[in-house]
Amino acid sequence: MPDLTELVCPSTSQGVTNITPIASDQFDRWLDAQTRATHAWVKSHDFTAKEGQTLSLPTQDGSIAEIIVGVNSAPESAEAAIWWLAGVPAKIPAGNYSISDVVDSALIASAAIGWALSQYSFNRYKKDATSPNRFLMLPDTIGISSIQYTVAAYQIVRDLINTPAEDMGPPELEAAAKAIAEPFGAKVVVTIGDALQEANLPTIHMVGRAAEKAPRLIDLSWGDDKHPKVTLVGKGVCFDTGGLDIKAAQYMRQMKKDMGGSAHVLGLAHMIMAANLPVRLRVLIPAVENAIAGNAMRPGDVVVTRSGLSVEIGNTDAEGRLVLCDALSLAAEEEPDLLMDFATLTGAARVALGPDLPATFTDDDDLWGLLDKSGQQMNDPLWRMPLWKPYLETMKSDVADTDNISDGGFAGAITAALYLQRFTDGAKSWVHFDVFGWQPKAAPGKPKGGAAQAIRAAFHSIKVFTTADS
Ligand code: BES
Ligand code: MN
Ligand code: ZN
Repeated sequence: MPDLTELVCPSTSQGVTNITPIASDQFDRWLDAQTRATHAWVKSHDFTAKEGQTLSLPTQDGSIAEIIVGVNSAPESAEAAIWWLAGVPAKIPAGNYSISDVVDSALIASAAIGWALSQYSFNRYKKDATSPNRFLMLPDTIGISSIQYTVAAYQIVRDLINTPAEDMGPPELEAAAKAIAEPFGAKVVVTIGDALQEANLPTIHMVGRAAEKAPRLIDLSWGDDKHPKVTLVGKGVCFDTGGLDIKAAQYMRQMKKDMGGSAHVLGLAHMIMAANLPVRLRVLIPAVENAIAGNAMRPGDVVVTRSGLSVEIGNTDAEGRLVLCDALSLAAEEEPDLLMDFATLTGAARVALGPDLPATFTDDDDLWGLLDKSGQQMNDPLWRMPLWKPYLETMKSDVADTDNISDGGFAGAITAALYLQRFTDGAKSWVHFDVFGWQPKAAPGKPKGGAAQAIRAAFHSIKVFTTADS
């Protein structure tokens, strides 16, 4: 895969074309300051600085002197400007560019991320793919490292999700985690196949045992033990057939993305390690394929989870919460200061909030306040949903302590979150993100396909959470 981080580079190469962003409400003022020739050129091209409009201004000899682009007037924060210029690279020729220095440098730094991400394409399997080639030169005053680790994180998430299950099964996900850990010296311990039983992780074994590629728990750790413990858990269902309660074809079609939660926590882990945040980081990924074979779990089977709670399998398609519950128990046992999980957990979350808004569940109001504020500041939206305890009633089982699904079919995202919550005792604070992990229709900076959601909001929250005076 081409490395998108190379698209943003320190300045001073030759032949750089300047780009001037113009907010539509500033357009008249800008135009007044131009020469008669520019005036005429702009008018004759119907340029009005409408958001997304671009126009090249020519030199005498017909080459490009400058490019003007219509943009939204000032975003609420510099970080919120991430997609500010994301529509531009697709409309201009290959080459080296810089942004007019009238723009605030924090804003440029943020927009540089979207600039690079807009040139993402997943072309692992394409013969005639061209490399991204619109380079943005930044002045030396702008630190490049946070731009690079953010771009890299999105690229990690997108590539992992877009890779088909055939090439992104549990072993390949393990290899991806190790590749992300390696440059930072993070430790990765993996428990595979029958060893899951011995390690008392029965639900991960049960969901994944019917697949050709053995189920496993990937356990990454990094950082100083003296720092606050932050543990990330990500759903790593490399393909979700639904198991014996088989999914309908139209829903199964996209299920290579069911390891999206694990992709998110790996992207987020990359940011945390690259930024060298003062945390003791742990990442837990139950990596399985929810497959069908003679040894698959059946509806009506009962599994005694790591926590001791017994669960009846009401539907084998509610497998995400099964693999997550043992991983969450394991995480909670060491009483982390912050426990976050990401999962493509329910279709119901999408019915409720659509593809853009991760359904966010926590009973910690302070943590929600931090996440909400971060989401707005970073332009990385989240929406809180309730952990409405009375709905636990709908998950009763006749033979076990709980069922893995609710009866009645109401509030599917909430009941799934309530189920997970039962396994988080010990964690000082817990939040669950039910993400879609997919961009259904291309938008500036966000091509159709695998998508990262809430990772900048989560990163910013972790940074504040762990560096604030307490
Ligand atoms: N991976 C799916 C959820 C999903 C489906 C996420 C489509 C995003 C898009 C999950 O494992 C699942 O199948 N959930 C079921 C639960 C049900 C059986 C209680 C669902 O949401 O229908
Ligand atoms: Mn499922
Ligand atoms: Zn699933």
